[in-house]
Amino acid sequence: MACLKQIRRGLWKALAVSAALCLVVYVAYLDAQMRYKTSAVVQERKDAGQWNASTKRRTLMQRLDWWQKNGIVVRSSSDDGDNLSSFFDMDERRELNKRGLKRRLPGAIIIGVKKGGTRALLEMLRLHPDVVAPGPEIHFFDRHYDKGLQWYRSQMPLSYDIQLTMEKTPSYLVTPGAPQRVANMSKDVLLLLVVRDPVTRALSDYTQASSKRPQDTRSFEDMAFRNASTGLVDADWTAIRIGQYAKHLERWMRYFPLSQILVVSGEKLVEDPVQELQVVQKFLGLRPLIGAQHFFFNQSKGFPCLRKTPQSTVPHCLGKTKGRSHPSVAPAALQRLRDFFRPFNQKFYRMVGRDFGWS
Ligand code: A3P
Repeated sequence: MACLKQIRRGLWKALAVSAALCLVVYVAYLDAQMRYKTSAVVQERKDAGQWNASTKRRTLMQRLDWWQKNGIVVRSSSDDGDNLSSFFDMDERRELNKRGLKRRLPGAIIIGVKKGGTRALLEMLRLHPDVVAPGPEIHFFDRHYDKGLQWYRSQMPLSYDIQLTMEKTPSYLVTPGAPQRVANMSKDVLLLLVVRDPVTRALSDYTQASSKRPQDTRSFEDMAFRNASTGLVDADWTAIRIGQYAKHLERWMRYFPLSQILVVSGEKLVEDPVQELQVVQKFLGLRPLIGAQHFFFNQSKGFPCLRKTPQSTVPHCLGKTKGRSHPSVAPAALQRLRDFFRPFNQKFYRMVGRDFGWS
């Protein structure tokens, strides 16, 4: 009886090995056939000195099409295949196709505001397994629009179709043409706007700019006021202009309904990131996976740091350029700035239906 079982097991093994061998031989046969069919063309091109990157790519594309026709490589119809480099590595391409990975245009964009906490929000969202995002700011809708959507897509990480691709470029908020350009890409894209008290934001902006231009010794007050004695605010100074959120949001609302724009509180993101992230995850249609277990409040930094996994012993804090100390400014000057921003803030609260409590 035992002997019979052993024979049967042996037979099954032999059968499996032969099937695998047949498959390998068949694929090798198809490949050889294709190589034979294209070899004359390749040789001809090589002889004519035309075997360059472009002809190599074309031949590889022909091969890829042929493999596809024979059902060996499955390529999704929506994949435009414009990424030339992908054709050079057939193995990688085949592997990616198998796993359904590809680069996708963003389904959600953090459009601003500069110094509002945009890096913190993106890094928090990147903890989510269903979110992918490039690390650097892409600046497509402000600086690189002429490079086209294919370029934009090529900047995105590979993702599965259930994942949400995101990017953040805070200057989109204040770029006049950006809302229309984003709408031309997709009318359904979700927009996130992290805002912070515009006075503190201006101080943060000034701190960043001064660190980049140490030779410029002008004080915050020199920049913020047209006339120091009258206290007339320079509304056109970038650090002040950016803080007039209502004006910028108006432009976006011409192209997107408010239901597609989530305004996140930069202050709450520091004080209570768990709660703010709950709202963000819901808005983005994500499973509520980011929670208290992902945060650790670093007393010396004064900010929440992130635990990539609940087991991580070393929390990841944002770099030195985030959470810098601001210059001290005379209380009277700060009060004048608060008075200046008040009407813009009030209008902004009405527009978004949330009072952020900036005095
Ligand atoms: P400051 O450096 O002025 O404190 P952005 O990423 O949009 O440039 O915003 C930078 C701001 O993010 C920082 O400004 C900081 O206040 C804020 N921020 C919010 N959450 C943070 C966190 N977890 N770690 C560090 N900075 C955070």
